Amino acid sequence: MNAAVAHTPVLLPEVLAALAPAPGEHHVDGTFGAGGYARAILGAGATVTAFDRDPDAIREGQALAAAQPRLALVEDRFANLAAHVDAVEGVALDIGVSSMQLDQADRGFSFQNDGPLDMRMSRDGQTAADFLNTADESMIADILYAYGDEPRSRRIARFIVAARPLTRTAELAAVVRAAVGHHPGMKKDPATRTFQAIRIHLNGELDELAEGLQAAEKVLKPGGRLAVVTFHSLEDRIVKRFLKDRGGIAPARSRHVPAEVAPSRAATFTRVQKAVRPSPAEQAANPRSRSATLRSATRTAAPSSPVAYAASQEGSRS
Ligand SMILES: C[S@@+](CC[C@H](N)C(=O)[O-])C[C@H]1O[C@@H](n2cnc3c(N)ncnc32)[C@H](O)[C@@H]1O
Repeated sequence: MNAAVAHTPVLLPEVLAALAPAPGEHHVDGTFGAGGYARAILGAGATVTAFDRDPDAIREGQALAAAQPRLALVEDRFANLAAHVDAVEGVALDIGVSSMQLDQADRGFSFQNDGPLDMRMSRDGQTAADFLNTADESMIADILYAYGDEPRSRRIARFIVAARPLTRTAELAAVVRAAVGHHPGMKKDPATRTFQAIRIHLNGELDELAEGLQAAEKVLKPGGRLAVVTFHSLEDRIVKRFLKDRGGIAPARSRHVPAEVAPSRAATFTRVQKAVRPSPAEQAANPRSRSATLRSATRTAAPSSPVAYAASQEGSRS
């Protein structure tokens, strides 16, 4: 197993400015990871309830929680945060995988470090090997296309099915490279999109994000702040459309409620800020930050919207 490197928090000063935590306030960190955001919020004097679905992240955080009575750790998905907290002044979400998850070969997220084909954040449910060794070729292709924007999804799926059973991340990476061609000078490894797509699918990440945003809408007090950092366009689109919808910038859209009978709603978010991207200095110092986007907004006093917000409303092609 590789030693995990510390996770460098992305857009930390910008997230902190958006959350504006103050002594006596209660904030949620929905994606604890290595605790970079939680530590900064605690440093501002606020109380933090931090969630992570990864039991390893919660275990690693126990020492900090033992030393800091204003920190509570919860092993759960952030989609469930409303079951644990109520009336908070801030919610932060930093979507995706941590450096620890990527670097720990036995978690199976990385095509650079060989490990078992796992990729489960919560360490439960179907593994990447289960999925790739049993799914129909057309389903694999659809997942690679929808969640990886992989233009050669059908060819890669064909190669995967021909190479079954697959058990190791290095095997999967080799199959993808064989399917699409690979030379050492390439800017991006051709396996990147395939690994991203399978991870997003297995962990239901887009549905999680849509549900997490609605949970934040429920628990934020009037004047409470939401800050969300995403790492690719599928996720950013979900956050952007949610804030447009809930900020009253676009009409409510739902597959379940026709426009003509959808109740007219007061905006639940205001002061929706323009997307913030890492500075060139941050991108140079932390290459993982390059694809990050922060969006933030402030909760109004309007009741939470009764209209469900689904990731699939956003044109994801699953
Ligand atoms: C990018 S890291 C967060 C890093 C953190 N902000 C820091 O500064 O250390 C994302 C973390 O969120 C967790 N995570 C991802 N999706 C989640 C979900 N739906 N619910 C709870 N935790 C989740 C992952 O397990 C991972 O530990």
